[in-house]
Amino acid sequence: MKLLVVGGGGREHAIIKKLKENKEIEKIYALPGNGGIAADAECVGIGATDIENIVKFAVENSIDYAVVAPDDPLVLGCVDALEEKGVPCFGPRSNAAIIEGSKVFSKNLMKKYGIPTAAYEVFSDAEEALEYIKTAPIPTVIKADGLALGKGVIIATTREEAEEAVISIMKEKKFGKSGNSIVVEEFLEGPEVSVLSFTDGKVVKPMISSMDHKRAGDNDTGLNTGGMGTVAPNPYYTDAVAEECMEKIFLPTINAMNAEGRTFKGCLYFGLMITKDGPKVIEYNCRFGDPETQVVLPLLKSDLFTIMKATTDGTLAETEVAFDNKNAACVIMASEGYPVSYEKGYEITIPADIAPCVFVAGAVEKDGKLLTSGGRVLGVTAIADTLQEAIDSSYQMVEQIHFDNAFYRHDIGQRALKAKE
Ligand code: AMP
Ligand code: GLY
Repeated sequence: MKLLVVGGGGREHAIIKKLKENKEIEKIYALPGNGGIAADAECVGIGATDIENIVKFAVENSIDYAVVAPDDPLVLGCVDALEEKGVPCFGPRSNAAIIEGSKVFSKNLMKKYGIPTAAYEVFSDAEEALEYIKTAPIPTVIKADGLALGKGVIIATTREEAEEAVISIMKEKKFGKSGNSIVVEEFLEGPEVSVLSFTDGKVVKPMISSMDHKRAGDNDTGLNTGGMGTVAPNPYYTDAVAEECMEKIFLPTINAMNAEGRTFKGCLYFGLMITKDGPKVIEYNCRFGDPETQVVLPLLKSDLFTIMKATTDGTLAETEVAFDNKNAACVIMASEGYPVSYEKGYEITIPADIAPCVFVAGAVEKDGKLLTSGGRVLGVTAIADTLQEAIDSSYQMVEQIHFDNAFYRHDIGQRALKAKE
């Protein structure tokens, strides 16, 4: 079996390492991969959104199965294009990836099918949005409709901030076309839970829950990032909450997508907030989360490739999706200055015995050395019987990894530990 994985971050590294446990797989290509992924797959210099060349590569190299991991190629129709050439894929087609690609779509879907989410209004005219904001409850949440590299959500704590957000998104086009429409949403409160799930469009099998740490600084201070660390499972996701989510959110979402003629296959990510009125959807993603994947997949006991094929073939109901009854913690090491601006090109040293626990996100290989090349550089995941042990073990490994200007949060998992008390 020859596989192709589209993408080149820590998430893709975690996917590739897990796939390699299946002995049927002889070869994995990563498009484009990165300097760290190169230790586990053959990296090919084709960008993740270069769909034409991805398809050409798949055909020329007789690829048996493709995993499309990032949001942009999914929204752009990478799976559609590969399937058209007979390459089976893990991931939704473009008409289903819209669940992440358009927040207006996903909010309207939830409203139409009664799926719990924050109350909202949609605007495609900046003046109307500004008029609405004059009397909207504050804080308020403003979201660009389309993909915005995870930066299109602004929580405005004053009316002025809300106005500035509308102007920067809709008038100054900070996120380009993604800001042609916006959603203005009720501000919700409560702990957040990420639930990634496998679905073949018929059944949905949730993975172990996780908790992201989105802010750059300790104690949830500083700017929003792609995620600075994760733990799994998430203590706020109790059995009772899980049951409620399955009944009111997960199954209704799969059914709603089918009813709209947009069957979703692949990994559907539910970003949830556990409010005093029960769990509500904050966002859907059409893919594995990053860094959630870096704690979730290491705990997966069943074979990832078998599950992926089952989502494609529609046989997920008969396929086992089981997780170890353990805890995982992942600490992200980033370049100082992330998520704004940072220097690159520093040598990374990772002791060999730790390497299996490291997922590389932003690094290039040069003359046999690994050099930093991104904001988030790598994630270090530890698994243990208790959450405390997993956190301690992850930080012990972090301390043995070196590159200049490295920074990381020191409190990954602390909130989860408190919730357990
Ligand atoms: P996103 O970029 O969609 O992942 O959103 C970023 C973060 O904004 C989420 O993880 C939440 O912490 C926060 N957020 C999004 N929507 C809301 C909301 N309606 N109320 C409160 N916080 C929100
Ligand atoms: N960690 C959040 C995401 O992948 O969107």
